[in-house]
Amino acid sequence: MNGKEEIKRKVAIESVKLIKDGQIVGLGTGSTAKYMIDELGRRVREEGLQILGIPTSLWTSKRAKKNKIPLTTLDEHPKLDIAIDGADQVDPELNLIKGLGGALTREKIIDTAAEELVIIIDESKLVEKLGVNQVVPIEIIPIALAPVIEKLRKLGGKTKVRSVKDTGDLFMTDNGNYIVDVAFGAITNGKILETKINIIPGVVENGLFIGVTKIVFVGYKNRVDRIEKK
Ligand code: A5P
Repeated sequence: MNGKEEIKRKVAIESVKLIKDGQIVGLGTGSTAKYMIDELGRRVREEGLQILGIPTSLWTSKRAKKNKIPLTTLDEHPKLDIAIDGADQVDPELNLIKGLGGALTREKIIDTAAEELVIIIDESKLVEKLGVNQVVPIEIIPIALAPVIEKLRKLGGKTKVRSVKDTGDLFMTDNGNYIVDVAFGAITNGKILETKINIIPGVVENGLFIGVTKIVFVGYKNRVDRIEKK
């Protein structure tokens, strides 16, 4: 395992120590969350930890099943105790950009239904301002693609419809929608931008997660820091 993977694994393991018996746990998506799912599975199998997980993507669902983590749904449990997820950027106020993996809509639904959202990242994700050298992923209903792109350009964004590297086909989310990655540059008011994007007809959700987490675990080469928002 290379250095970066080892950092992701360590930060994930640290976060799973927060999980207690009886909890309903939101299971994030991505290359950091994958280690969290594996560690949670280990605790379920080896320590008899009793939890129910709610996956934020089909990929996570498969990985959780492989790990023998019992799963439930939002219909059964509309309120979660905790969710643990990765992020693409985290600013000093603990606002986030998420969605490079394309799971942003289910992530926002599940992560914000949790009493506590815990974010796990390596130090490269810490930024002074969201949006610098980072796109905001936006999920769009297919028939609305062209008009939504026009409106996103009017908001000052440079748009790129996401495609699948190997085939060139348009990327499709677990919900059967497209993703447009939008470069806005430095984002000064994330809450306002989040709202302006989401009121465009045809937009399902966007990857700005503003004011939704109070705990971030950050992995460095030789340590894991826990940042908390007062
Ligand atoms: C999935 O859609 C994303 O929101 C991920 O949580 C985010 O991209 C972080 O993923 P990595 O841990 O793979 O960087």
